[in-house]
Amino acid sequence: MPLEHSRIRTFEDYQDAYRRSVENPEQFWADVAEPFTWRRKWSSVLKADLVVGRNEWYGGAKLNITENCLDRHLASRGNKLALIWEPNDPKTRQIRYTYRELHQQVCQFANVLLNNGVEKGDRVCLYMPMIPQLAIAVLACARIGAVHSVIFAGFSSTAIADRVNDAQASVVLTSDGLNRGPKQIPVKRVVDEALESCPSVRRVIVVEHLGWPVHMQEGRDVWYHEEALEAAKTCPAEEMDAEDMLFILYTSGSTGKPKGVVHTTAGYMVWADYTFRNVFQVEENDIYWCTADIGWVTGHSYLLYGPLLNGATTLMFEGVPTYPDAGRFWEVIDKHGVTVFYTAPTAIRSLMATPLDNVLSYSLDSLRILGSVGEPINEEAWHWYHTHVGKERCPVIDTWWQTETGGIMISALAGVSPTKPAHAGQPLPGVQPVLLSQEGQEIEGNDQEGYLAIKAPWPGIIRTTYGDHERAKQTYFGPYPGYYFTGDGARRDENGLYRIIGRVDDVINVSGHRFGTAEIENAINQNPNVVESAVVGYPHDVKGQGIYAFVICREGACDTATDKPHVEASIIETVVAEIGKIAKPDKIQLVSGLPKTRSGKIMRRILRKVAEGETSNIGDVTTLLDPAVVDEIINGRK
Ligand code: WTA
Repeated sequence: MPLEHSRIRTFEDYQDAYRRSVENPEQFWADVAEPFTWRRKWSSVLKADLVVGRNEWYGGAKLNITENCLDRHLASRGNKLALIWEPNDPKTRQIRYTYRELHQQVCQFANVLLNNGVEKGDRVCLYMPMIPQLAIAVLACARIGAVHSVIFAGFSSTAIADRVNDAQASVVLTSDGLNRGPKQIPVKRVVDEALESCPSVRRVIVVEHLGWPVHMQEGRDVWYHEEALEAAKTCPAEEMDAEDMLFILYTSGSTGKPKGVVHTTAGYMVWADYTFRNVFQVEENDIYWCTADIGWVTGHSYLLYGPLLNGATTLMFEGVPTYPDAGRFWEVIDKHGVTVFYTAPTAIRSLMATPLDNVLSYSLDSLRILGSVGEPINEEAWHWYHTHVGKERCPVIDTWWQTETGGIMISALAGVSPTKPAHAGQPLPGVQPVLLSQEGQEIEGNDQEGYLAIKAPWPGIIRTTYGDHERAKQTYFGPYPGYYFTGDGARRDENGLYRIIGRVDDVINVSGHRFGTAEIENAINQNPNVVESAVVGYPHDVKGQGIYAFVICREGACDTATDKPHVEASIIETVVAEIGKIAKPDKIQLVSGLPKTRSGKIMRRILRKVAEGETSNIGDVTTLLDPAVVDEIINGRK
């Protein structure tokens, strides 16, 4: 598969591709899809319906995505490195797999799944560390047509159970434990706890990683390494329909319960492949490193599928940016000769806060392209990244997209189209963004701001929310019929470059992780001391947004000064147990009431102002049931 296929090399190429993708999308996406391995070609390229949110790509086609990620490369790239694994502890062993070796590993894992009764269409949940077997297991699911649903290994047992039950998964893949910097976490124990309330699960396959003893439940749990002894290293790929489900990935929205975003096989594949090649301008000899965890969509599309579809060498890192010290990212880049590096603003900001020597003591000569994803990158972080990491030599691309979009939507193409600090830039071919007014009118022209929506389907568009299409319809296609609604606000500058401002719904973005405010409130309300809570985001130097919780306690629970710290600590414990450490509130303010309108609606606008410290300019409070509560909240601000 040539890296030259449907390749944009110059700005003129981009303009030409963009124009063709809008004028005749079906022809355009048929051409892009041509060189993949198809068992059968499509009968129609696109069936679109942006009103009910049913969009189908490459209908009638048959394929398997792993044949496109692996088998297809064996003849020309069999001995090329596919996966480099860098362990948490730099002194321990790296692992490297060529395309041929990765193919064998995936086939062997696929056989273990088959031998354990996994069938096409079954849902398999993965709760695993960032070790090669996670990547292998994901591909093994795809090989046999099982639907993978990766759960980030920082979620709590309650959060796992919610996801496993929603997906009705029959099999869970996990490991004995995981390393995260200096800490070790007993992952299997967390899974065991979760599965106490997951009746659909009949098999747990455990990958040995730390060598820890774990409880193995008779009849349910098996060790991967024991199962693998019997498993062949070849495995024919299951033939899938273009619109068969490839994976479910749970993500937070403005309602309390995370939803299972569904992506299907062919459209997702074409989108991950095309966007990866063109945004990162990948060349045959690149060593590409995306620091995202496979538990998030970035890890799916740009650590795993995008790079492997293109026959690139992808690096997978088990650890964290600050272990053993805050130079770890840069050490890994020098050690492996990384050429393309893709990370999140929160990581950059946390490293910026450490002594500059941590980065200046590495050469970083190999780098040629830098990417950012997950949240708006502020100008200061952009400049630091550009100057100290990229040595003003590497383009910095700010890639905007979402779990629901499958792949990058708005971004500069590295070295091809213009970059501007804190701006994602121009839409990729196939992406037709618009700015809408609150009433749903398209806002024309440049130098404008509005709600960001997309007015035509692209191959990677969300297909449904698992088990509940109505929810997908209402969330994404309902607000402005005929458009996919992103939930983000954006500004188009005088040259037509897009700047993403942030969420306009009740979603907050903490270190690039999405949470619904209602989701965190639901968790807090589980605490027996709590009557009611309201959560808002506020600007945070490192995390982008922090979590600020206003909480009303049960009478008598926090009357004395000594009660308060106990109650706050127990609220944090509850959130950690319900969701995970990543959702821990940064600030908790115990209040006697919340600012509610006479109809009982919490006025979050006021709470956001308080959390942001904008208390001199709180606005009109006369419609409140009890305006006095606002003064109390302002005075008690954390
Ligand atoms: C935000 C991550 C500004 C945005 C790929 C979006 C961004 C949400 C950017 C999706 C960016 C992502 N600039 N904001 N470059 N990238 N976002 O589903 O609010 O975890 O709606 O997907 O992150 O987060 P998700």
